[in-house]
Amino acid sequence: MRKERLEEEFELGEEEEAIHEYEALTDDYLHINASLIAEEIAQLVKATNGVAVDLGTGPGSLARALATRCPALVVVGLDISLPMTRLARDRIVAEGIPNVVFVVADVHHLPFRTCSLTVIISHGAMHHWRSLAQALAEIKRALAAEGLLYLSDLTRTAPDDVVQHIAALLNPKQARAFVNSVQAAYTIEELAQLTAEAGLDTVRVEPEEFSRRTIARNIEKLRRSAMRGLRQPVINIRVVSTDKKPSATGV
Ligand SMILES: C[S@@+](CC[C@H](N)C(=O)[O-])C[C@H]1O[C@@H](n2cnc3c(N)ncnc32)[C@H](O)[C@@H]1O
Repeated sequence: MRKERLEEEFELGEEEEAIHEYEALTDDYLHINASLIAEEIAQLVKATNGVAVDLGTGPGSLARALATRCPALVVVGLDISLPMTRLARDRIVAEGIPNVVFVVADVHHLPFRTCSLTVIISHGAMHHWRSLAQALAEIKRALAAEGLLYLSDLTRTAPDDVVQHIAALLNPKQARAFVNSVQAAYTIEELAQLTAEAGLDTVRVEPEEFSRRTIARNIEKLRRSAMRGLRQPVINIRVVSTDKKPSATGV
């Protein structure tokens, strides 16, 4: 297991190159992941309307996948990179998805009112944030009292053989970025501590395991994916709301 967490500094201005790599990745690894995670989230969403925000949305795969499954939600894809949001915007225009918008903003200073968000989601982004503690404090502030939180990311405890297997499916640049991301990712224990310190006490932190229904609904995509057969729960972990009622103050 990789013991030391290595920070993966996110450099604005270097993302043009990253975008091309993401585009290549999105059709397989990210796309199938976005589809599976959006399915899982759609099953957990209780609210029939409101605003859902995807933090560190990148090309917007998860935001778009959730928007098509929950048409009554307004989905905001938030990213610090202007070129990323442009790419994401081009895609929703091409696909004709009406209930998604993309904004440029920093997760450390969310541009939303306190308790205003029905759903907060994220995939593959937490390990990039400069201060996860500050971002979690902002998430806690902006999430509505009975809002749904679903943050999914890689974990540093992913077994080496699985990491190498995935890296071998990627081109050399993508493989390097993937291995670095694993090295920068958090463990369940670290995320449990950080969420507790942020006062997010109605969440659980756990390996990301998909329901039978999610698998069934994505079975054709899974069959076609190079990622088939890989055990998601050893690669990804998630912070997800529990059904426990929030405190009386709702904060
Ligand atoms: C690895 S990508 C994940 C993209 C997407 N969620 C996905 O799964 O395909 C991480 C994204 O986080 C964004 N990001 C990094 N730091 C950020 C910050 N402080 N605030 C908002 N977005 C940030 C980057 O621009 C990048 O698009």
